[in-house]
Amino acid sequence: MRPSRLAQLLLDASGAGVKLYGWQARFLDDGSRFRAVLKSRGVGASYTVALEAVVDSLLSEGHTILLVSYSQRQSLELFKKVRDHISMLSRLKLRHGNTAYSLSHKTTKTSAEFSNNSRIIALPNNPDSLRGFRADHVYLDEAGMFRDDFSLKSALAFTTVARDGRLTLVSTPKGCRGWFYEVWSREEGWSKHMVHYRDAPHITEKELNELRKVMTSLEWEQEMEMKFLREQEALFPYEQILRCVEDYQPSKPADGATTYLGIDFGRYRDSTVITGLSREPDGRLRICFLKELRQMDFAGQVKVIEDVVRLLRPAVVAVDKTGLGIPIAESLARTTPMLKPVTITSSIKDSMVRALKNLVESGGLAIPADAVELINQLHLFQRRQTAAGGVRYEAPEGGHDDYVISLALAVHGALTHQRERMEMVSFWRWGANA
Ligand SMILES: Nc1ncnc2c1ncn2[C@@H]1O[C@H](COP(=O)(O)OP(=O)(O)OP(=O)(O)O)[C@@H](O)[C@H]1O
Ligand SMILES: [Mg+2]
Repeated sequence: MRPSRLAQLLLDASGAGVKLYGWQARFLDDGSRFRAVLKSRGVGASYTVALEAVVDSLLSEGHTILLVSYSQRQSLELFKKVRDHISMLSRLKLRHGNTAYSLSHKTTKTSAEFSNNSRIIALPNNPDSLRGFRADHVYLDEAGMFRDDFSLKSALAFTTVARDGRLTLVSTPKGCRGWFYEVWSREEGWSKHMVHYRDAPHITEKELNELRKVMTSLEWEQEMEMKFLREQEALFPYEQILRCVEDYQPSKPADGATTYLGIDFGRYRDSTVITGLSREPDGRLRICFLKELRQMDFAGQVKVIEDVVRLLRPAVVAVDKTGLGIPIAESLARTTPMLKPVTITSSIKDSMVRALKNLVESGGLAIPADAVELINQLHLFQRRQTAAGGVRYEAPEGGHDDYVISLALAVHGALTHQRERMEMVSFWRWGANA
């Protein structure tokens, strides 16, 4: 029986009410050792990967299947879909002749083991932990977002070679770079599947219209029309951003660490973004706090900001003091002595963005892997020639830059604070020598 037929029978028997789409059946029936799936957002790829992993582990004795994503949290999300499929199948009473079968399994937050010794394990993007396994099938979900492709590739070769293991890469495009792009555009020996949002009818016309409203045309091209965007136009190419990305959850830094806040008040989508940075012992700046406030009234925003200030005790709170920011900055000034209002003219914005670019280029910033909106906005940020022959840095037409500007403000606060301290030290030294 074809795997897609079996999967559909199981879905029907469990009453899931899901009819597999044509692309899902083709993917499930494709037994190639190497597969790549290029997809629009939300088409049901993770759902299908999880379904295939569960069906495969039921059919094969002693199989090890690894599910890998770009962060711990993202791998857990994917594994949650595995758990959903398992609990759906656990409700089934399967019978062959006079024998009744039930799905016997032991499931934790990151792994499932079945009575036939097959297992499914979720892992973050960490080549060292991959090397510890011998796998029959490894899935990389959102492969375009992976850092350190080269060591991942060599770890995967090590993990799969002994068992002739299969490899499946699934992703929305993320620039003309990286392993997923190379596989899709150049490498032979891969079975390639392309899944457009029109192939997934659960995405309704209404949802598409909503998405069109919030995405810029570049985002739409990338996320929905599956275009690999050229990196030349990007002020922050993915390669540079991903060098700063680490798999961690932002949290309050150790006592004694110097911290900084940057706040951009909502112009787009009524959202205000707060970014906290902490200075590491090696001098790097780490994002230790990131929060977007959507459609919150003035008093609510002031309260959240005051709470964050109490939590992090920042040395500087750099806020955008233009337009909507003026009244909030004035209100905060009464309670927040370390407030640094910045009037963001286009030349100040350019110099803040340039400082951020230098920091990213030198790898002096740590960005959490799950900060997807920030990463997306950074990448879409552009260097643009003005009519007067100058250069401007900005989000593309209709785009958002609230995460970028909030981060740029925090960096601006950190760099100004450092400069002022150095000036103070040299003043003291000068004073001592005089
Ligand atoms: N055949 C189907 N019929 C109806 N709904 C489906 C079908 N297959 C998947 N879905 C639903 O599609 C939704 C999106 O699924 P999923 O998160 O797996 O997509 P994705 O492509 O991985 O999305 P993302 O781009 O956000 O990672 C889920 O709610 C899932 O249940
Ligand atoms: Mg997914």
